Amino acid sequence: MMLNIVIMAAGKGTRMKSALPKVLHRLAHQSLLHHVLDTALALMADRIITVTGHGADAVEAAVRATAPEVRFARQMPQLGTGHAVQQAMPELTQSDSGHAVTLILNGDTPLIQASTTQALIDACGGKQLALLTIVMGSEAEAAGLGRIVRSDAGISGNDAGISGNDASIVAIVEHKDASPAQRAIVETYTGVMAVPTAHLKKWLGQLKNDNAQKEYYLTDIVAMAVADGVTVVAAHPSSDTEVLGVNSPLQLADLERRYQRSRAVAFMEAGVRLADPARFDVRGHLECGLDVEIDVNCIFEGCVTLGDNVRIGPHCVIKNAAIGADTIVAAFTHIDGEKLGVKVGLDARIGPFARLRPGADLGDEVHIGNFVEVKNSSMAKGAKANHLAYLGDAVLGERVNFGAGSITANYDGANKHRTVIGADVHVGSNCVLVAPVSLGAGATIGGGSTITKDAPAAALTVARGKQVTLSGWVRPVKQTG
Ligand code: UD1
Ligand code: MG
Repeated sequence: MMLNIVIMAAGKGTRMKSALPKVLHRLAHQSLLHHVLDTALALMADRIITVTGHGADAVEAAVRATAPEVRFARQMPQLGTGHAVQQAMPELTQSDSGHAVTLILNGDTPLIQASTTQALIDACGGKQLALLTIVMGSEAEAAGLGRIVRSDAGISGNDAGISGNDASIVAIVEHKDASPAQRAIVETYTGVMAVPTAHLKKWLGQLKNDNAQKEYYLTDIVAMAVADGVTVVAAHPSSDTEVLGVNSPLQLADLERRYQRSRAVAFMEAGVRLADPARFDVRGHLECGLDVEIDVNCIFEGCVTLGDNVRIGPHCVIKNAAIGADTIVAAFTHIDGEKLGVKVGLDARIGPFARLRPGADLGDEVHIGNFVEVKNSSMAKGAKANHLAYLGDAVLGERVNFGAGSITANYDGANKHRTVIGADVHVGSNCVLVAPVSLGAGATIGGGSTITKDAPAAALTVARGKQVTLSGWVRPVKQTG
């Protein structure tokens, strides 16, 4: 059975009060539209067509960047949801057998699940019109939404056995066009439907805009289906969150929290111990081993893996990093691997207040303490930089001890240079290692040294002014008068 998916994304999103097109606003660091596209891609459709209008250039560029197979249909001006799907009509494919399905999704409804839409496609089967509906708690909650009007004839068997209401669906009536009796209906249309493609093409051609909003309503095809003797069935999402759309910053933040809550619950069900599921954010892909503990207010971005027994202290931000088993990352640590990534070995101690930047590659049992920054540098097993240090473009051997306040001067204003530090080197406090430079294995660098030449192995190198004492020297006295 051929599957087309039409994603409606032409609307303006006036209530966002933003220059950014609504569907490009982000939830968990991914645009609303990309969430919907992920679902669409998971369904292995033959064609995915996005209807663009407001901010079309920006929206199409954003989609092309990650999903080049998606097609576009421009809708200018926007004359309603039926008009939107009309623009996609030339792109819809049909199989020879005629059993093609078109699934309609909304670009501003990011949490729709593939399983829910697959059930809807199955209910359609290329023969029936399948609507995703939800039953609201009250008429007030249903305000603004299209109402599912059912016959009171009580014909059973038309709801794929899941709607709980046996009366057959005869129409969707938009809120603004509904009579008081129809407004009292609490079963509402979610904006998602699966339609036999051949019928859809015919019905789209018959749409009229003689309604309260002077729009071409996609929902008018329901009555057309009934008139053509096509059965209309309803299916429901597994949770109402799936069909919540974003129209305002408040709704966006609300959906973000719901989304994060569901991810937190999934991690906890898998054994991860979160100090507080309400203070946990994953904006990308997080993988956790056994017995991982995560304290409050941590943010995980990009692709992060945490090995067994890893403990993350409070207020850490970790992006594109792999942290080995038994490692402890203490409070307020910021790890950002960007494109190069950050690697931390087994049983390491990072933080508090540490900063690991792209290309930091830390071996097992490495210790990084407070106010230490590591960038594009490797540290072999057991190496330590415990206080106030900067390591850039450096290679540190095993068990190196890099003293408090010491730095690599890796940048000469034009080029970056490497610092190579052999195993068991001890760099004293407040040293400047002017790269390119190397320190031989077992070397000791006296505190306060500025090292501009290679230091030999196993020797003490000191590079600073000699300490002198002037006896008989007196402090100046403040002059008066
Ligand atoms: C629509 C449904 C309503 C349903 C509700 C669920 C219609 C006529 N009504 O109403 O039954 O309860 O969704 O949220 O379909 N769009 C375009 N081009 C347009 C108009 C809209 O691309 O010309 C897009 C919007 O960007 C949005 C989606 O279609 O993603 C829905 O449009 P919206 O205006 O929100 O429809 P509602 O009036 O909410
Ligand atoms: Mg809407």
